[in-house]
Amino acid sequence: MGNIGTPLIRFLLEEQQDHPEATDEFTTLLSQISRAGKMISRKMSRAGLANVLGVTGDVNVQGEVVKKMDIYANDAFKQAFQHGAQVIAMVTEEDEDPVAFPENQPSGRYIVYLDPLDGSSNIDVNGPVGSIFSIHRINDGASRPTNTDLLRKGLDQAAAGYILYGSSTMLVYSCGKGVHGFTLDPDIGEFLLSHENMKIPTRGNVYSVNEGHYQKWISPTQRFIDHLREHAPDDGRPYSSRYIGALVADVHRTLLTGGIYLYPGEAEKPEGKIRLLYESAPMGYVVEQAGGSASTGTERILNIQPTAIHQRTPIFIGSHDDVSLAETFMRDGKEDRQ
Ligand code: AHG
Ligand code: MN
Ligand code: MN
Repeated sequence: MGNIGTPLIRFLLEEQQDHPEATDEFTTLLSQISRAGKMISRKMSRAGLANVLGVTGDVNVQGEVVKKMDIYANDAFKQAFQHGAQVIAMVTEEDEDPVAFPENQPSGRYIVYLDPLDGSSNIDVNGPVGSIFSIHRINDGASRPTNTDLLRKGLDQAAAGYILYGSSTMLVYSCGKGVHGFTLDPDIGEFLLSHENMKIPTRGNVYSVNEGHYQKWISPTQRFIDHLREHAPDDGRPYSSRYIGALVADVHRTLLTGGIYLYPGEAEKPEGKIRLLYESAPMGYVVEQAGGSASTGTERILNIQPTAIHQRTPIFIGSHDDVSLAETFMRDGKEDRQ
């Protein structure tokens, strides 16, 4: 495989030689995504100077206040795909309906699902944010995406990944052959291989959750977190707690150091907050490819059949053993309630 420092596009071209099923089209598509990532990264690095802070005054399809950077990021991806010949439709958090790219037909074979800017409330406090992408290939012969093309299980993803705008900017992706991370060298404007074949520890010692919602959780979730906080040194407990409030940043840390991130359902809101097609499924794909797990608490995230493009799911994601333990608590809780 590649050497540390290999530019993203060269790495993809080399991967194409080893795996003939990887195509030029796919390499071009990832380079379009990386270009949008570079534009967002550059804009973000000037966020304190440029007039990009604050809200637009609009609300998005989720009923949440839209930040100016959400719009900039959404547009950066649209521009990257327009006339790029690969993407026929983009499903994004910021647009209620899928965005079609008729100019990319009939050559385009891909639908991209995007959270263009994840964790955007961190922007005003100079905290890390991210972009999340999920890529599906449509059937050969199809000219426009049907509902069946749009509502596909996470297991069918051709590739998925994220860009983290942190103390450095990183692009992490998988196309089903492991997980690779690239760090942006701002001097030359290229993503360079920095983390090859990333693997998540089987078990960690950190949990990551918005604990302010504790009283709103169902009792199995409360019991699981209570368990991780217990003093049991022989069992590696208590766990530490870390919460950035940006899924990309919290899952990236979990991928590197192990443990579990959760955004559970609540008694009054069983579906939780995190969106299936452009948050849970792509992050689940990456973490599974690194040897970890992603679950709703009772079901594998990648096996959920979506019914709506902006659908939400509870999520428990991270080290295999930590997610399995959470599932035990959630399943036991189900029996309690019967
Ligand atoms: P987004 O900024 O794309 O709407 O996503 C925010 C999500 C996710 O990134 C994060 O983990 C979670 O919301 C934080 O929510 P709380 O503020 O409820 O903890
Ligand atoms: Mn998000
Ligand atoms: Mn977002």
